[in-house]
Amino acid sequence: MPLASTQVAIVGAGPAGLLLSHLLAERGIDSVVFDRRTRTEIESTIRAGILEQGTVDILSTLPGSRVLTDGNRHDGIELRFAGEGHRIDFPSLVGRSVWLYPQHEVLKDLIADRLAAGQDIRFSHEVTGVSGIDGDRPAVRAHAVDGDGEVVPETVIELAAQFVVGADGSRSVVRQAVADRETSRYREYPFAWFGVLCEAPPSADELIYSNSDAGFALISQRSDTVQRMYFQCDPDTDPERFSEAELWDTLQARVPGTTLREGPIFQRDVLRFRSFVAGRLRRGRAAIIGDAAHTVPPTGAKGMNLAIADVLLLADALGDLVLEGDEHRIDAFADIALHRIWKAQHFSWWMTSMLHRTPDAGAFDRERQLGELRSVVESDAGKTYLAEAYTGWPFSR
Ligand code: PHB
Repeated sequence: MPLASTQVAIVGAGPAGLLLSHLLAERGIDSVVFDRRTRTEIESTIRAGILEQGTVDILSTLPGSRVLTDGNRHDGIELRFAGEGHRIDFPSLVGRSVWLYPQHEVLKDLIADRLAAGQDIRFSHEVTGVSGIDGDRPAVRAHAVDGDGEVVPETVIELAAQFVVGADGSRSVVRQAVADRETSRYREYPFAWFGVLCEAPPSADELIYSNSDAGFALISQRSDTVQRMYFQCDPDTDPERFSEAELWDTLQARVPGTTLREGPIFQRDVLRFRSFVAGRLRRGRAAIIGDAAHTVPPTGAKGMNLAIADVLLLADALGDLVLEGDEHRIDAFADIALHRIWKAQHFSWWMTSMLHRTPDAGAFDRERQLGELRSVVESDAGKTYLAEAYTGWPFSR
């Protein structure tokens, strides 16, 4: 059994795990990153697209980052309801913007940066156990994963570290060692998003969040030639159930006033909604961050941004712990992170509830929802809250 050690063992090569390894390396701290997926899988999985201003400020400091050259700044979004569009202009409300730069492009930048710096990233390695986190020498056990996704028993690696970080997504292994089920909080939603990727030019300059009698739709983008669109559906919808023509009819009916530019749909998926916050984010010499620690519904585009906020806090705390043996900031990590996490949970829930049609909503609920939307777009205070939350609160470090 090969035995090795590092300063920080990071489980998960998503945006959180990779950015953490970068920030630790800047502080002179060694880490090893594990991920059960291959590099190609990580770089080709289509996920979120919107980066907060603060996320861009951090990512653009990476050598070779393409976020400012290949990403697109968006100065606003449109809220559409009752047949009319209402633009929320971010710079005039809060002096900030967001960037459309797909998560898999962020990952390509981060992986290139880490490999160029000599970072040890174990792709196709699944962490199968975490031990010793209540002492000062925790360890992770990992196995190689074969081409069929099966763990290869004879490939076991034991890695000792000073701290273990779970950045391993919503099915986190590290969470099982760290979090407390009793105090975890979650809610389900009675709808999901049907997402499509299509080859077509953009249908609008900015993202359209549309509340219609038929349900919610979001017209988003990926590039000049590829677009991402979603419509609200039942969580049990079979993605293959609709023909392409039906998908276009459904989307089009939900954005009255805009003629969608159609093209071949080359990917479709159903995204279930969940809000979740783990009951404990840190236990002894381990912590969880990103989707391992919390999940938000996608409506507010907060998922990846919240993960980045966790990373900044944790990198500072681990710097103090590993380099100076100072535990103050690691002790404060969970409380400070949770402050932002619950604000983002609220914002994501609020955008979701304001824009979607709940299956059992009656006529009163429907009129109330339109009243809520009008309260936002007809008030500078309302629009400013939306703009402030959407573009991201300043990071506390
Ligand atoms: C996306 O483009 O995937 C996207 C954009 C905005 C959201 C959610 C998803 O609020």
